[in-house]
Amino acid sequence: MTPARYDVTLDRVGGPTRTIEVDEDETVLEASRRSGVSLPYGCRTGACGTCVGRLLAIEGAESGDDTTDADGTPIDVAEAFAYRREPRALKPRHRDDGYVLLCIASPRANSRVAVGSRVQSELVDNPWK
Ligand code: FES
Repeated sequence: MTPARYDVTLDRVGGPTRTIEVDEDETVLEASRRSGVSLPYGCRTGACGTCVGRLLAIEGAESGDDTTDADGTPIDVAEAFAYRREPRALKPRHRDDGYVLLCIASPRANSRVAVGSRVQSELVDNPWK
């Protein structure tokens, strides 16, 4: 059976927005490389956080603001992505805030994800987070 394919829009803060097609059995990082869209990465095992993005919206549940759907309910990353392995670089509160590790995340819905250095620095560069 042909794997399902989803559109993942990578919304680069301060840069271009690109939509790529991602099969349900590949990761967003793998699809971005196949599509010629550059995304930073390091370990590719969910350990370093270099590839992090933040989920903005799931198709059919457009966000009320950056972290909630139209009803004010927090967006659940698990509705948009399944992880290939444990996302060790994310603390539970990061997952609750919509951060997603694109090197190990495979899509389960069409979605829009913020990427770029600002998203990464929210997570990685601040030792107090
Ligand atoms: S590249 Fe290291 S967590 Fe994704």
